[in-house]
Amino acid sequence: MTIEYNVLAPGPVNLHPRVQEALSRPMIHHRTPEFDRILAGVHKKLKTLFQTSEPVFVLSSTGSGGMEALLVNTMNQGDQILGIDSGKFGERWCEMAQVYGAQVQTMKLPWGEPVKVSAVQDHLTKNPQIKIVLCQACETSSGVIHPIEALGKMINEKFPETLFLVDGITALGAMPLPMDDWKIDGLVGGSQKAFMLPTGLSLVAFSKKAWKKVEQNNTPRFYFDLRKELKANQKGETFFSSNVTLIRALDVVLDLIFEKGLDAHFAEIHQRAEFTRQFGQKMGMSLFAKAPSDSLTALNVPAGIDSQKIRTELEKKHHITVMGGQDQARGKILRIGHMGYIQPEQMVDLMMKLGQTLHAEDPSLCPPGLMNKLETEMKKFWGLV
Ligand SMILES: Cc1ncc(COP(=O)(O)O)c(C=O)c1O
Repeated sequence: MTIEYNVLAPGPVNLHPRVQEALSRPMIHHRTPEFDRILAGVHKKLKTLFQTSEPVFVLSSTGSGGMEALLVNTMNQGDQILGIDSGKFGERWCEMAQVYGAQVQTMKLPWGEPVKVSAVQDHLTKNPQIKIVLCQACETSSGVIHPIEALGKMINEKFPETLFLVDGITALGAMPLPMDDWKIDGLVGGSQKAFMLPTGLSLVAFSKKAWKKVEQNNTPRFYFDLRKELKANQKGETFFSSNVTLIRALDVVLDLIFEKGLDAHFAEIHQRAEFTRQFGQKMGMSLFAKAPSDSLTALNVPAGIDSQKIRTELEKKHHITVMGGQDQARGKILRIGHMGYIQPEQMVDLMMKLGQTLHAEDPSLCPPGLMNKLETEMKKFWGLV
């Protein structure tokens, strides 16, 4: 028997019925006029979503592959790179740059804290040889958002030779991240997050400034050599075999987003985040991130509660998937995702079941009287009563 889970994790996410239908269509070959038409449409729509005049690439890889593609196409071995490390994914990107031979200077931040633009500016002023700055737009391990617009504009204005690469894997498609306007030089998104698909595609683009580096750097690359992909895309193809099934479903997702309108789509995700932040606090939890993102909310569970146990119970008993904390936040936080196909009733159900689960662990938490009152408030929030 297949259990239907309500996947409210910060990726992967619940799939829209139209996406599920697209994923189940019969196979077609990638060298066909039908697929060529789909690919051309996807490339065009992605440019609108990235808000860039430069080409956007669809790679058959997880998000980490896209992060690697941004690096290997723009860095030279031996380059000095500043990596903003505010959690698990910042740490991964720094490590990746080191593996490819960069000299990485790490700006390590306490989990949940956004980076200060002035600190980055000071660091670059003192280290003018830095060629690339790496930053997550949203660091998924803590749910924090970083000031990408201010960072991009500052780097572009004060350090015009430095590139700003952004991991938008849990941000792109969930919140505004206009690449050209915010002076982002390399941007990556991931299919299982705000692109509302299964895992398996990364989406990347470079600014005009970054393209100059792509054309001439000495880092060995093959699969992620995007010069080859650009040439193939210009002929209406992908260089390697295309991920037909996911690209066809991506086409449907992009239509769904643009039918709704980008602003309305972002507003929906924002409302889910507002809901979780408000009611999570009313249920005795606090926000882990000092600058909380709209993509996910990280809630500190009350003292004495193991968040890992709560997430397991929610999944086992109620078939609701949320995530616990990683590394230093393990057992301490719950991470609730706001991306994907989510109905207001599912958000209410999650909070009610979370209340019950906390109450079962510690009867002083989320007593039935409080939860009954909050249920009415939650329904009012969504206009369900
Ligand atoms: C911010 C961020 N960067 C990178 C990744 C890695 O993506 P993937 O697991 O698709 O390789 C994730 C995945 O959760 C992420 O949230």
